[in-house]
Amino acid sequence: MSGMDEFVRDLPKTELHVHIEGTLEPGMMFGLGERNGFDLPFESVDGVAEAYDFTNLQSFLDIYYQGAAVLQTPGDFYELMAAYLERADADGVRHAEIFFDPQTHTARGIPFEVFMQGFREAIADARSRSGVTADLILCFLRHLSGEDAVATLIAAEPHLDGVIAVGLDSSEVGNPPEPFSEAFQMARELGLKAVAHAGEEGPPEYVVGALDALGVERIDHGVRSLEDSQLVERLRRDQIPLTLCPLSSLALKIVERVEDHVIKEMMDLGLLVSVNSDDPSYFGGYVLDNYSAVTSAFGLSSVNLADLARNSITSSFLDAERKRELAAEVDAVLSGYEG
Ligand code: HPA
Ligand code: ZN
Repeated sequence: MSGMDEFVRDLPKTELHVHIEGTLEPGMMFGLGERNGFDLPFESVDGVAEAYDFTNLQSFLDIYYQGAAVLQTPGDFYELMAAYLERADADGVRHAEIFFDPQTHTARGIPFEVFMQGFREAIADARSRSGVTADLILCFLRHLSGEDAVATLIAAEPHLDGVIAVGLDSSEVGNPPEPFSEAFQMARELGLKAVAHAGEEGPPEYVVGALDALGVERIDHGVRSLEDSQLVERLRRDQIPLTLCPLSSLALKIVERVEDHVIKEMMDLGLLVSVNSDDPSYFGGYVLDNYSAVTSAFGLSSVNLADLARNSITSSFLDAERKRELAAEVDAVLSGYEG
């Protein structure tokens, strides 16, 4: 590990954009497939990884939903969450706000009780083992209807312990945010916070729609926001967090090279951007790998990297006191760094 990578690992960070189903490693997919008598359309663990050659968001989602089908029991969801939290802790993540896609599981006949039990127990065990904390973000699938989202939230209501927010993911182009305004309003009335994927492949209008029609406090990706200068000014003025995922945008051909990613331009514009992994097992890297990729692509300094770690803390839903503690630790790690 390079000196700079060790420095980034030592910086206290949060991860705010990671889909738990996107942390399913090929080896675990195979193991769970065998254990559950589930036939995967792959010959071997290597065959799974070879299928990960994406041309756009949809080409990834098709394989991602197929992979998630091996998850059946509370123990399976526990194993998935425990493995992610162990890896996050090794990368210096102190707190994670983790997406899950309930409709992917309920549509297969796996009820909320099953996955929520696995998630919750794994989160509690990781916390007592390493101190890492995690909250869950319930994502609605935008390729399904607004009515489906409302029905999902009603089914979720008895199981919201540990859930901090709702989100919106899946196929973006042609699925604007507005049809989900009722589900998001209900969620806010339940005391949940709101975030949404927007401006990943879709136009900047979807970012504006997520802010105005859904009332979200944070935008996931949002890379196309730069096409609308009024929106950029609003994001800057209101310091609306954008959770960027450089290796995801590379894998999904949003950008051809990491050097073409908008992260540095956004940092220079004064936008509140953070670095995240999205679907690390599919996109070739956990959070530290994402920091590493942008560090080499843009020659980021230790001050830039401390800013990104601080942004991840500011952008989280942690309370003010924990934010202050973690930010003070960032300052201490930065001032102790020589290089
Ligand atoms: N975009 C939209 N939906 C998703 C993603 C993403 O990057 N990852 C998992 N579901
Ligand atoms: Zn995502």
